[in-house]
Amino acid sequence: MKLPIVTVLVAISAILTTLISAQASEQEADKFITDLMNKMTLEEKLGQMNLLSIGSDVTGPIVSEGVDEKIRKGLVGGVFNTLTPQAIRKLQEMAVNETRLKIPLLFGYDVIHGHRTIFPINLGMSCSWDLDLIERTASAAAAEASAEGLNWVFSPMVDTARDPRWGRVMEGSGEDPYLGSEIAKAMVRGYQGDKSSQEKQRKDHVALDKVLACVKHCALYGAAEAGRDYNTVDMSQVRMFNEYMPPYKAAVDAGVASVMTSFNEINGVPATANKWLVDDVLRKKWEFKGFICTDYTAVNEMINHGVGDEAKVAELAINAGIDQDMVGELFLKYGVDLVKSGRVPQAQIDAACRRVLEAKYRLGLFENPYRFIDDERWKEQTMSADKLTLSKEAAIKSMVLLKNDNHTLPLNPKKKVAFVGPFVKDQRNLLGSWCAAGEWQKATSVWQALETKSQNILYAKGCNITDDDALIKRLNPDNAMLSKDEKSPQALLDEAIQVANQADTVVAILGEPFGMSGEASCRSEIGLFENQLNLLKALKKTGKPIVLVLMNGRPLTLKWESANIDSILETWFSGTKSGDAIVDILFGDANPSGKLTMSFPVNTGQIPIYYNAKNTGRPYNEKDKYRSKYLDAPNAPLYAFGHGLSYTTFEYGYIKLSSNILKPGETLTVSITVRNSGSVPGVETVQLYTRDLVGSITRPVKELKGFQKVALNPDETKTVTFKLTPADLKFYNSDIKLVNEAGEYQVFVGGSSDKVKDAKFTLRMD
Ligand code: NOJ
Repeated sequence: MKLPIVTVLVAISAILTTLISAQASEQEADKFITDLMNKMTLEEKLGQMNLLSIGSDVTGPIVSEGVDEKIRKGLVGGVFNTLTPQAIRKLQEMAVNETRLKIPLLFGYDVIHGHRTIFPINLGMSCSWDLDLIERTASAAAAEASAEGLNWVFSPMVDTARDPRWGRVMEGSGEDPYLGSEIAKAMVRGYQGDKSSQEKQRKDHVALDKVLACVKHCALYGAAEAGRDYNTVDMSQVRMFNEYMPPYKAAVDAGVASVMTSFNEINGVPATANKWLVDDVLRKKWEFKGFICTDYTAVNEMINHGVGDEAKVAELAINAGIDQDMVGELFLKYGVDLVKSGRVPQAQIDAACRRVLEAKYRLGLFENPYRFIDDERWKEQTMSADKLTLSKEAAIKSMVLLKNDNHTLPLNPKKKVAFVGPFVKDQRNLLGSWCAAGEWQKATSVWQALETKSQNILYAKGCNITDDDALIKRLNPDNAMLSKDEKSPQALLDEAIQVANQADTVVAILGEPFGMSGEASCRSEIGLFENQLNLLKALKKTGKPIVLVLMNGRPLTLKWESANIDSILETWFSGTKSGDAIVDILFGDANPSGKLTMSFPVNTGQIPIYYNAKNTGRPYNEKDKYRSKYLDAPNAPLYAFGHGLSYTTFEYGYIKLSSNILKPGETLTVSITVRNSGSVPGVETVQLYTRDLVGSITRPVKELKGFQKVALNPDETKTVTFKLTPADLKFYNSDIKLVNEAGEYQVFVGGSSDKVKDAKFTLRMD
């Protein structure tokens, strides 16, 4: 197609105008910041590097004190954990009206899966495999948070995680670096806008319904040994760059404004003092231009890591290139002396201060420090109808039907259903951990949703969430759901059996309390609590069909459940509209479409377990003793990455390749037909994997390279087409160079990583 010359010229001139004006605005920003910095004392510059918390969310050993006084002295660059426009305005007024240089504050917050309106926990959201939906939820959270006066969110959390004992798996997108990277990009777009709107925002400042994002926890936090939070990480660079680094890099490529370093060490050096990570990788290799903050007291914690005393760890962090010290205040305490004694170059402080000021400039805070604070907009945005609708959509799409024998689901509304379990009437747990400013009292419980849906329902609590007193004591005391029922465990059980006997089907809603996942919430065993499992076993003895609805923040071990229960629906903690979404799925008003993004192990002994593993020299073979395997458990997980059922079924045809050779500059088309072979409309996530059969280093047995969601009516068939280029097949070799290697590849397509069709092609590099 030929475009008229005039159109081309107009387009070129528009691009040039944007580039020139972006350059001009950058020059303007530079000049403004240089002038401002010329007036700043060293202490004031260190003040910009000081990030303090005011609020109840204390997630470490130190509580920020005397913050007001420090703000007034110009010794604070940003504050987090403060909510409401009134409180934020008050602090901003202090910074702007009472300090010498009137530099406004950044206002950060842990907006992790929604702000006031809560969406499913991130692990659940990732099971939707719906990037547009994920972007929309981040965008809604940005609109809600910014209307409150916040301008910076500590999200996305993109740590690849393969150990479900680690409580923070609930905050991330599971075990796969490709999916994790796509989700990282979608979330940055949602919070900050896409790349082109970010460019525009550099000139016109960040839009009022957007915020600055902060990708975390850089890097490798998800690989904490034994799934124990804050534990040591030790990893080869090949694994690091192929499997753990891609999501952080994806966020950087999407323009993320800031990065948070992690608590763990990398190559023996804590991330927060790691010059190689911060300077060589982030700033030089990845060309990251934003600012870098630490995690909560991570600088101080380097004393426990054993790399120095207070002054030394401050020196190490500043010299590594960290710009802001979260809560620990060691930059402020030692910065002046460190510069005067020559241990920290003045230029290092100037560069850090400049990067923080650049973020404030980008936000437009120097023009109007109150621009995000608007009571009217706050009222309008907070839990608005569209966000509640989105919350329900996200909840439905995140749920995963793990098992469904004999069409036990969907439920027949004409039949009597007994709802049993401590989560049936629960609201508190529905929001999950990191539920930011969400109010659990506004969440819809399953029972509330049921009451508007069906008359044919019975209820029994059945058991407490747990009867383990030591555990109850250790868990968040504000979780009232954990206080034990007045009735004895036996009385609760008897009641449940009586109710189950009156029903046609039993739905047991069980799981973990929300405080069992999230930060510092790891488990060494990840099954249902003993008392809940006992209830389930007693219900099974009634002989009624049983549906298990799970609420939890991590993959669980479900060996008995999977062998004995008819249907299992994983609902995670799915947010404000959990109840409505669960009830819609249970009664078939919505068809489940979620697919797992983390393998569910058979038992904890299999952990770490992930689909994209290496073949080893002695791959699994049941009949041969000297193979890589267990004597008491299979190698395969109970439910694989990508697994998830629907109320309908899908039939896959055979893979068709456009060629069996792929060369540089070419595209290989991989297509397959998918037919809805059941009786209701459904959505299938078609997954594409590859395997590099021979490489200079060993390669995973499968790697996700693409996916598409396809909606199909009964008997409808669609052809799903993927395009592969050599770039998609690149990997980091042992010199940590991103390369293509010629050779044979397998390509797989299917509805789960363990149920695929396959074909072969050759990559030629000549
Ligand atoms: C500690 C957590 O690791 C991090 O994710 C969070 O953003 C900060 N605390 C601030 O609350």
